[in-house]
Amino acid sequence: MKAYFENKVAVVTGGASGIGLALCEELLALGAKAVVPADLNEEKLKKECARLEAAYPGKVLGVHTDITRRESVFSLIGKAAEFGSGRVDLLFNNAGLGLGKSFDDTTEEDWKFAFDVNFYGALHGIRAVLPIMRAQGGGHIANTASGIVFSPMPYQTMYSATKSALLALTSALRSELWDENIRFSTIVPGTVATPIWDQAGGAPASAITPKESALGILKGVADNERIIILTEDDLSGAKYGFLPEHSESRDVYFVNVARQRRSGNFKSI
Ligand SMILES: NC(=O)c1ccc[n+]([C@@H]2O[C@H](COP(=O)([O-])OP(=O)(O)OC[C@H]3O[C@@H](n4cnc5c(N)ncnc54)[C@H](O)[C@@H]3O)[C@@H](O)[C@H]2O)c1
Repeated sequence: MKAYFENKVAVVTGGASGIGLALCEELLALGAKAVVPADLNEEKLKKECARLEAAYPGKVLGVHTDITRRESVFSLIGKAAEFGSGRVDLLFNNAGLGLGKSFDDTTEEDWKFAFDVNFYGALHGIRAVLPIMRAQGGGHIANTASGIVFSPMPYQTMYSATKSALLALTSALRSELWDENIRFSTIVPGTVATPIWDQAGGAPASAITPKESALGILKGVADNERIIILTEDDLSGAKYGFLPEHSESRDVYFVNVARQRRSGNFKSI
């Protein structure tokens, strides 16, 4: 792992919290040359970057960023390249929102925002960083999806659709840009105890820690895995999610999830 990350310049969106923050910490611990956490939450970003900067002087640049805005993402990548002496080796398109809601309650504005944050945020990052990666002869872009791509969940239509689109984009680009030495991986980070679960009343008891998730993600990135899957649950979803012979049991399971959620239980699934 250390060999892959040592002296690398990395950008992590959503870097002020949860999995993104843990990725920043572990990248620094593995000897990255420069880490650029980017986040919409300026207060948290300042606080966490000050802490990281104290431990790794000169290696951290926090950039206040709104990934839904193309110009904000291009500005982020420009600043990161300047900080990294012209290089950006790794881009983690990690920022995202849970977006749980009944379909009937969603508006067209909700759907547009959902794609802006969970899909176009990463697309802007890819477009901004590609010229830099091409010029330097390669790089790695890791886009965070979710186990929901294998198990699209009721009452999370926007999350299911946006993350599935991100998986498709990432997988197609992986082959398209393989010969240019630009690697693409999709991250399925497991169920992780982070603030994203606040809306649902807290993470399930089975959740792993952000650090456990980050370490698994970085191992998968170093191994250049196509889809980095960290937990047995998500592996099982990946194996059986769309096979016709499992469709009946999947229906039984997900209809029960829908009923549970309709009655207000978003947690013990
Ligand atoms: N935690 C889980 O169980 C889990 C499971 C599957 C996938 N994921 C995915 O992992 C990623 C990280 O989530 P997390 O659990 O660490 O959540 P988190 O809420 O702890 O962190 C997300 C960060 O993204 C930032 N963010 C939100 N909108 C932004 C914007 N427009 N521009 C810039 N930053 C923005 C937030 O301010 C926050 O700091 C997300 O893409 C999420 O969908 C999480």
